[in-house]
Amino acid sequence: MKKYHGAYIKNEREVARLREANRMVANILDAVGDIVAPGISTMRIEELARDMCSTYKVKPAFLGYYGYPYASCCSVNEQVVHGFPSERSLEEGDIVSVDMGVEFDGFVGDAARTYPVGKVTDDVQKLLRVTEESLYVGINQAMSGNDVYAIGAAVQEYVESAGFNVVRRFVGHGVGAQMHEKPEVPNFKPGMRGLTLQNGMVIAIEPMVTLGTYEVDILDDKWTAVTRDGKWAAHFEHSIAITPQGPRILSVSDRGLNRHTIDS
Ligand code: MF3
Ligand code: CO
Repeated sequence: MKKYHGAYIKNEREVARLREANRMVANILDAVGDIVAPGISTMRIEELARDMCSTYKVKPAFLGYYGYPYASCCSVNEQVVHGFPSERSLEEGDIVSVDMGVEFDGFVGDAARTYPVGKVTDDVQKLLRVTEESLYVGINQAMSGNDVYAIGAAVQEYVESAGFNVVRRFVGHGVGAQMHEKPEVPNFKPGMRGLTLQNGMVIAIEPMVTLGTYEVDILDDKWTAVTRDGKWAAHFEHSIAITPQGPRILSVSDRGLNRHTIDS
């Protein structure tokens, strides 16, 4: 595969396989949205994700990745990312961030959404909406000729003007045959120039937004990231191809692109 400063440039056939992997991920996330409700456990989400991987005959991309023990990440409330599915029941008013990845025909799909459990407070609803909107603000910068850091600069500006904060510890990434490829895609503005985006690059943009501090801690399980102040966090992720026609969202389900916390 052709490379540009360490980032792989995908051809049309490779982008088509990434599209298929991401379509499956988005279908799984739609199905998760159908079952999220007060009283279900996050392990139920994990089971659904694994069942759909078997149906699609694809490998869950996270399972075994640096020893990660599950197919999905289910992060509840103050958990930011990389939470373990568990028998804990979701309660009315909670939020759960579900991150899912699959490997199809040698290519990885990666996307995430945060779901409200029943009715959430207005503050929390706004957190979800601003986080999801910030993802689209970032996607609008994902075009050939732009500095990759323009994405994070736009995300950060948008999130902070809404009164929230973006997590620095974790970043988006190039995605392809490997889940994590170059370039890194921060959700904030680093004080330097980054790589110039090129047509054929595929990146995962994944803002993590908090109601309070952007500082996170990792729990003793070595994975679960929680906010240092215990305030809640949301996470939305799409995989995007950079094309001559502009950004193309690959993680679109058979139901279409649903911006579920926006326009509501
Ligand atoms: N979407 C996350 C990421 O891009 C998922 C990784 S979870 C892991 O980093 F367990 F696989 F690490
Ligand atoms: Co990712």
